[in-house]
Amino acid sequence: MSGPFTVGEVIRQVLAKKKYQHLDPDLVAFIANSEIKKRASLEETVKATTNKLHQVGWAYFPQQPQYAAHMQELETLPADIHAAESRAFCSRLMQEHSSTRERLPILADFYRTLFEDIRPVNSILDLACGFNPLGLDWMALEKGASYSACDIFQDMTVFLQSFFGHFAIRGKAGTCNLLRQLPQEHAQVALLLKTLPCLEQADKDSARRILSGISADWLLVSFPVHSIGGKEKGMLAHYSQQFEGLTAELGWDHQKFLFASELVYRVKRK
Ligand SMILES: C[S@@+](CC[C@H](N)C(=O)[O-])C[C@H]1O[C@@H](n2cnc3c(N)ncnc32)[C@H](O)[C@@H]1O
Repeated sequence: MSGPFTVGEVIRQVLAKKKYQHLDPDLVAFIANSEIKKRASLEETVKATTNKLHQVGWAYFPQQPQYAAHMQELETLPADIHAAESRAFCSRLMQEHSSTRERLPILADFYRTLFEDIRPVNSILDLACGFNPLGLDWMALEKGASYSACDIFQDMTVFLQSFFGHFAIRGKAGTCNLLRQLPQEHAQVALLLKTLPCLEQADKDSARRILSGISADWLLVSFPVHSIGGKEKGMLAHYSQQFEGLTAELGWDHQKFLFASELVYRVKRK
C-alpha cells in the first residue's frame, strides 16, 4: 500500500544523498517504483530503495573509489597501456571493485581461454562493466578495436571515459539501467560478467529479456562461484541449472568454462 507521497519525492530524497547522487536516475526510479508498492511511509520507501541500491551497486565496493586522485594519477602515466606503470595502475584499481579483484588471479588465463577461438576481437560491449574495462590490456584486442561499457555509476563511467581517452582507446562509457533498456549497438562480443544474479535482485524475471535483447555475435555470460562473503552455498549448481534451462528454451548452443572463481558460458549467436 502506498502512502500520501509520490514516487518523485522518493527519487528526489534518494538522489539528494551523497552516496547515491551519482547513480543512474532511471535505476533509482525503477527501484523506487517497485518499493513504493510494498511500503507505507516515505521514510520506509526511501530506506528500502537505498538498501536495494546498496545491494546492487555499492556492495561491490569495500571502499568508495577516489576518482579525483585516480584521474590525477592517470594523467601522469605513459600513453602506452602496455607499459609496466599502466598495467600496475590498472591492477591496483581492479582491486577496488570486488568483482574484478576476485578475477585478478585468473585474468590473463580468463581472456586467453575465452577469446582463443574468437580472435581477432574487434568490438566489445561490456554490460554492467564495473572496473572490468581496466583489464583491457589483458584482453589483447585487435589494434583499433572499439569498447563500449556501461554501469549505473556516473562518476565511474566518467572516470572510465578518461581512461579510454588517456590510452587512445576507441571507447565509450556511459550509465545504463539494464533492467529498463539495453544499449542498441551491435558488438562482436558482449560481456555480461557476474551480473545476472545482481540484476535479479531488483527484477527476478530480467535474465531472459536481457539475454535475448543483446545484439552480439558472441555472448560471454558468467556467474560467481562464491558469494561476496566467500561462501559457495551450492551456487554453481543453481546458476548452471538456471542458465542452461534458459539457453535450452532459447535454442542456443553454449560452451562452458569453469575457472577457480567464475563459471562462464560462451554462446555463439551468429
Ligand atoms: C557483480 S558486479 C560485475 C561487474 C563486472 N561485470 C565484472 O564482472 O567485473 C555487478 C555490476 O552490475 C552493476 N549493476 C547493477 N545493477 C545494474 C543495472 N540495473 N544496470 C546496469 N548495471 C548494473 C553494478 O554496479 C556492478 O558493477
